[in-house]
Amino acid sequence: MLQIYCHPRAKISSLPLVVGAFNDEAIKVDSHLDSDIDNLRKKGYLSTDLGTVNKIYTFGKIPNEIIYVIGLGKRSEYNRKNIITGCQKITFELGEELLIDLPSLSGNISEKEAVGIIVETLVYNNYRFDQYLKEKSEKELKVGIIADEDLSALIKEALIIGVAVNNTRDLVNQPYNHMTAEDLAGYAQELVANLNNSDLSIEVYEKEEIERMGMNAFLAVNQGSTAGPKLLHIKYQPVSGPFVGLIGKGLMYDTGGYSLKSSMNTMKSDMAGAATVLGVLETVVKNALPINIQVIICATDNRINGHALLPDDIITAMNGKTIEILSTDAEGRLTLADALCFAQKYKCKKLIDIATLTGAVVVALGEDVTGLFGNDEKEIQAMIAASQESLEELWPMPINDAIRKKVRSSKVADLKNSTGRNMGASSAAAFLEEFVEEGIKWLHLDIAGTAYHDAGATGAVLRTIYRYLKSPY
Ligand code: BES
Ligand code: MG
Ligand code: ZN
Repeated sequence: MLQIYCHPRAKISSLPLVVGAFNDEAIKVDSHLDSDIDNLRKKGYLSTDLGTVNKIYTFGKIPNEIIYVIGLGKRSEYNRKNIITGCQKITFELGEELLIDLPSLSGNISEKEAVGIIVETLVYNNYRFDQYLKEKSEKELKVGIIADEDLSALIKEALIIGVAVNNTRDLVNQPYNHMTAEDLAGYAQELVANLNNSDLSIEVYEKEEIERMGMNAFLAVNQGSTAGPKLLHIKYQPVSGPFVGLIGKGLMYDTGGYSLKSSMNTMKSDMAGAATVLGVLETVVKNALPINIQVIICATDNRINGHALLPDDIITAMNGKTIEILSTDAEGRLTLADALCFAQKYKCKKLIDIATLTGAVVVALGEDVTGLFGNDEKEIQAMIAASQESLEELWPMPINDAIRKKVRSSKVADLKNSTGRNMGASSAAAFLEEFVEEGIKWLHLDIAGTAYHDAGATGAVLRTIYRYLKSPY
């Protein structure tokens, strides 16, 4: 387990010390070393360009045996994002126990603000998914942060967030044969048990109960699978008042169904929305945010057998709306439709769904920007403000009457589950909007591009949702 703690400045230590240094300033590590280090830089042996790491042996001149000078670039250009770049190479590879000099790394940013970013960055970059490798590193990082004031509460909060992000990444990185709907339900039950909080409860509904509730859109996606569906419903109610519903797309694997994907690699990540809402729950409960939430996940895979859903089929969602299936690969919106209905039945007044919903959002915004949709401008702005705080990129996307009309243009049912290539991400959002009742505020985050990269799962938007929930708005 990675450990991060507050290290008093006065405490003498021989541990390696990480110090930040700017391009346009004299290097200040210790008066016994500074001129030597500056000389190295003048000769070009040492760089303070952003993101560089220089290892310096101190040979008894100071108690710390090694200094790592981290390049921060120009002070005038230094910002919160550059802290992340500057700190990205601070990993267990530098040494299993490190000290970090916070004031030198925070530049003109307050230590209180910088410390959270640094801790989250450290936890993120020290993550490995090596459980199935024969050769795995046993190294675990232990970091002491040297600051001018006691920042242990902020360190603790950031550590909780960082660990939850990595737990989310673990869930997403697991392949289907180790992460079925049943496995996810088991994880959620264990999570709730470990959180050990009397305001927290979980219910896992099985197929028969899901049938009884009339969640036929969800069931339609599951009907071609040998693995049963699971409906996960977690309630956290520490205060009186309304609930925010956090709904995660839980497609444990998306083959496309009979509208089979030509390439389905990485589709184990189609449950990233579900993994993210579980991560958000973990941060909210561990950091004791005074907010009521419900987590709702319709977990299933999208596969084919003799019972599978077919294009042209007409199904009926939980709220009675009928849907013509144009593509069995537009399955996420079917499960989410019923999840939205369920959340409103259980009195959620605000809904946030997180979903790897469309390839179209990847075409529009790429791998680093999440598409944001919603029915309330103030909520959209609040979520964008939260994303700016967490340094995750979100971009507002439109739902207009033209696309709503297309979603309603079926000749044989109330809705179509696919409207073709144009406006693909908005079409999916417009479809979901059909399941949001009057007066209910709703936000939809399409994380198809941001949740999973070549390097694996990212945990995208977890930190943004946490900050959104934490903000007093
Ligand atoms: N799970 C996919 C979306 C996706 C694409 C996630 C790329 C992650 C990376 C979703 O179920 C899907 O297949 N969407 C279709 C919808 C279409 C058939 C209307 C798509 O985007 O092609
Ligand atoms: Mg699909
Ligand atoms: Zn999908």
